[in-house]
Amino acid sequence: MRVLSVVGARPQFVKLAPIASAMADRAEHIVVHTGQHYDELMSDVFFRDLGIPAPDVNLAIGSGSHGEQTGAMLAALEPVIQRYSPDWVLVYGDTNSTLAAAVASVKLHVPLAHLEAGLRSFNRRMPEEHNRVLTDHAADLLLAPTAVAMGHLADEGLADRGVLVGDVMTDVLYAVRDQVLAGGGAAPAGDYYVATIHRPDNTDDPGRLATIVDALAGLDRPVRLLAHPRLVAAASASGVELQRGAIELAAPLAYPELVAAVMGSRGVVTDSGGLQKEAFLLRVPTTTVRPETEWVETVDLGWNVLVGSALQTLPEAVQRPWPAETDAAPYGDGHAAERVVDVLVERHGRLS
Ligand code: UD1
Repeated sequence: MRVLSVVGARPQFVKLAPIASAMADRAEHIVVHTGQHYDELMSDVFFRDLGIPAPDVNLAIGSGSHGEQTGAMLAALEPVIQRYSPDWVLVYGDTNSTLAAAVASVKLHVPLAHLEAGLRSFNRRMPEEHNRVLTDHAADLLLAPTAVAMGHLADEGLADRGVLVGDVMTDVLYAVRDQVLAGGGAAPAGDYYVATIHRPDNTDDPGRLATIVDALAGLDRPVRLLAHPRLVAAASASGVELQRGAIELAAPLAYPELVAAVMGSRGVVTDSGGLQKEAFLLRVPTTTVRPETEWVETVDLGWNVLVGSALQTLPEAVQRPWPAETDAAPYGDGHAAERVVDVLVERHGRLS
């Protein structure tokens, strides 16, 4: 069986790591990098630190408007998929790389599997929401991370194609957490917050961005703001000073350093999907600067508080008391990637 994985953006490299190791000896695995993320800190460090083999193909598409970027990837992926003629194309999450690969595959009649299927924010302003809905409806096999995601697939008439496999991010996070603990790399909790802000709804409205940065600058502990290039560019364009007050401005971290930083922190402030869940798995309280989340379990269990329009409540939310402990495991047991490969092997050739 030959599986062709398409990745392009930072969180997808993290998800690729456990899949690539689970594929070893079980399938021929071709990795195609669209080049959506290309800076050393946004791409190469993940392959290096997580032991992922170098991509077989890098399309080097780079940045652009949504249509321009997605269209360029679609055109570039078509001949690659034809050349390798895989049994499955495997796409990850909800980025423009995901949608481009999904459309390329279905148009070539190549079976398509979507990892992290069924997540919904129900916010149609988010590019990720279009990407995941369109990809789910195009795919032949929907690999869902949670029971809630399976429910969304059923609501949209997609239950037959869905399989609950668990969350591959849990696999990689637990492995890296254990490495950090073994290396003595996590500081005792409590001295600082970790913050990341990169969603266009937060960065591209100068008033909203200024209010968020003001709130971070006024927090009661140092704030390590790990600045995505989109944040740096937007802040500079709108004259918002990032380095002030409690904020300690820093570049994005490599994955093991990020995990260590979160483990040692008193809390996380973020608009990232992945980081909300990673913080929950590490049992670090999170405040999510968005009106909704796809990872509703983190909120229901009391470890994540959403702050959407009422930004004046952000400091109070971040500085709230420690949540009640829980041993709930809505994101699986750390063996999702093995299940993904099992399902791909089992269903291989069974699609008409
Ligand atoms: C993308 C995903 C988002 C994911 C995020 C993770 C889409 C629609 N969005 O958002 O779901 O949460 O990745 O980080 O696919 N840039 C660089 N260097 C890079 C990459 C980007 O400087 O290596 C800058 C460019 O100015 C670019 C901007 O960041 O225009 C945004 O990059 P892009 O990949 O379009 O979207 P993200 O905001 O990273």
